[in-house]
Amino acid sequence: MIADRSFDIRVMTDFLQRNDGAFTRPLSQTLKEQGQTLEDYAEKLCRMGTVAYETDGDAIMGVVIGYTQNLPEDNGSYITQVVTDPKYRRRGVCKRLLAEYFDFCREQNISYVWLTTGVDNHSAQATYEGCGFVLAPCANEKMVKYIYRIR
Ligand SMILES: CC(C)(COP(=O)(O)OP(=O)(O)OC[C@H]1O[C@@H](n2cnc3c(N)ncnc32)[C@H](O)[C@@H]1OP(=O)(O)O)[C@@H](O)C(=O)NCCC(=O)NCCS
Repeated sequence: MIADRSFDIRVMTDFLQRNDGAFTRPLSQTLKEQGQTLEDYAEKLCRMGTVAYETDGDAIMGVVIGYTQNLPEDNGSYITQVVTDPKYRRRGVCKRLLAEYFDFCREQNISYVWLTTGVDNHSAQATYEGCGFVLAPCANEKMVKYIYRIR
C-alpha cells in the first residue's frame, strides 16, 4: 500500500521505536546526534514522504520511505528509509515494497530512484541488487550508492 504524505504519525513513531535496534546503528542515536527526536523525525517522514508499507493485521511488516515531491531538476526520487521488521524478513516484503514504490514513481513521471547504504550492510546490498538497483559512483567511501532507472 502507498500513503503519499498521509501516513499516520503515531503508527510510524511506534514502528521506528520497535525497530530501533534493527538498524546497523540505532536510529535514535543518530537522531540524537542531529538534535532530533524520533517523534519529530516520524512526523517529517509522514508529512513529506511517500510511504510504501505492508501490514499483518495491525502490525506494520515493513516500510520503504522516499520523497516524490519537489524533486531536483533531474527528477530523481531519494529513498531515505528501508526497514522490514525482523519477524517478517526474507519473505519478500522489501522486494514487494520497492516494486510498489517504483510503480508509484512511474505514475508520477519520475526518472529514477536512488538510495545509499553502508559498505558493511551486505543484506541491504543483496536486496537492492536483487531488486534491480545498479551501483553508482559515491563520494563517501563508507557508503554505497544505488540507482534504479524508471524511464
Ligand atoms: C535489508 C532489509 C530491508 C531486507 O528486507 P526483507 O524484507 O527481508 O527483504 P526481502 O525478503 O524482500 O528480500 C529480497 C531479496 O533480497 C536478498 N536478501 C534479503 N536479505 C538478505 C540477507 N540477509 N542476506 C542475503 N540476501 C538477502 C535476497 O535475494 C532476497 O530474496 P530471497 O529471500 O528470495 O533470497 C532488511 O534486512 C532490514 O530491514 N534490515 C535492517 C534495516 C536496514 O539495514 N535497512 C537498509 C538501510 S539502507
